[in-house]
Amino acid sequence: MAGIYIHVPFCKQKCTYCDFASYPKEICKQEAYFACLYREIKGRGMSLKDRVFDTIYFGGGTPSIVPANYITGALKQIKNYFNLAPNLEITIEINPGTIDLDKVNEYKKAGINRFSIGLQSGYDDQLKRLGRIHTAMDFLKCANLLKGENLSADILIGLHDQTFDQVKRTIDLALAGGAKHISMYALTPEEGTPIYTDYLNGELLSSDEVADIYNLAVNYLKEKGLNRYEVSNFAIPGYESKHNVNYWTRGDYIGVGVSASSLIGNERFTNTFFIDDYINKVIANKMPVASSEVLTKEDEMFETVMLGLRMDKGFSIEDFNKKFQVDFNDFYKNSLQKNSDYLQVKDGFLSVKPEFLYVENGIIIDFMS
Ligand SMILES: C[S@@+](CC[C@H](N)C(=O)[O-])C[C@H]1O[C@@H](n2cnc3c(N)ncnc32)[C@H](O)[C@@H]1O
Ligand code: SF4
Repeated sequence: MAGIYIHVPFCKQKCTYCDFASYPKEICKQEAYFACLYREIKGRGMSLKDRVFDTIYFGGGTPSIVPANYITGALKQIKNYFNLAPNLEITIEINPGTIDLDKVNEYKKAGINRFSIGLQSGYDDQLKRLGRIHTAMDFLKCANLLKGENLSADILIGLHDQTFDQVKRTIDLALAGGAKHISMYALTPEEGTPIYTDYLNGELLSSDEVADIYNLAVNYLKEKGLNRYEVSNFAIPGYESKHNVNYWTRGDYIGVGVSASSLIGNERFTNTFFIDDYINKVIANKMPVASSEVLTKEDEMFETVMLGLRMDKGFSIEDFNKKFQVDFNDFYKNSLQKNSDYLQVKDGFLSVKPEFLYVENGIIIDFMS
């Protein structure tokens, strides 16, 4: 498996919790940005001619904020320069405040077959406090434009004074809109964002309160037929995101655009975070890469454990041993012993016991060498 990620670093306004590479004031640079994006796609595609790619993911930022022909143009460029598998999964992230029927029709005509809508909350007062540009009703309108399509919804837990009942109703709203997949993220108060001040003032839920809501929500989602397949991701069987599963299983991926990361074999590189820097470098025929590293075997082993244990089914110990030519049980003997109460082996897969998946971070630390 291999995936292509395209980053669109524009938003209408910055949400109060977000520290992703998204620049509302730079939207005037979208034309120059996409021209460079097309050049980067061409260059990357030509250097990876022999690879077959199975998934394409337009993320952001807000990919749905730019005219649809910029997105379909990028897709055309990918089709021209990359070797693509026949059953491509093509996802686009959509902010409900930036969509109309024409855009939806253009996306569908171009082959986009998965739509990830940023709902975040079903409550308008919460959406406002998060700096979102849409209401809960806008989500339903957006979902209605996408009726019958493969829909995912992003929701947040851990908001100011949020109760489980509110999360439950937000899930209900996502399902009423036709979502077959839900990404439920615990709000991370990132330093430098406005919400970080709320966090410092003790206005957000405590981590124990968030954990309680998370556990109740996991059960509720299960009742509704959505199984957890990764710490924050839930799907009706068959609707899991192939693109993200490829990431968690450490398949190769190429990232194009500002801040996008790539992993090809044991090499990881990440593009510049800044639009001007990106544009200047691409125009000068330079790689827009800000950092790169060659991973050691130990790095790769740790990443396999770290990402694999995020998934409900974990990872295959036999595959691990074959890939790295080590005995996993022996190499990680001490870490396994220390965490034996939290881990399980089923059909040769090591995973975190379901009741501890939410706190898998604490377990993974012990696998760092
Ligand atoms: C980068 S956003 C892109 C989607 C789109 N821009 C939107 O927000 O509608 C992807 C998802 O990351 C999540 N996210 C962003 N910042 C976060 C934070 N500080 N803590 C937890 N989740 C966050 C949000 O749920 C969001 O939908
Ligand atoms: S719309 Fe998405 S990417 Fe843009 S600021 Fe909000 S959370 Fe960040």
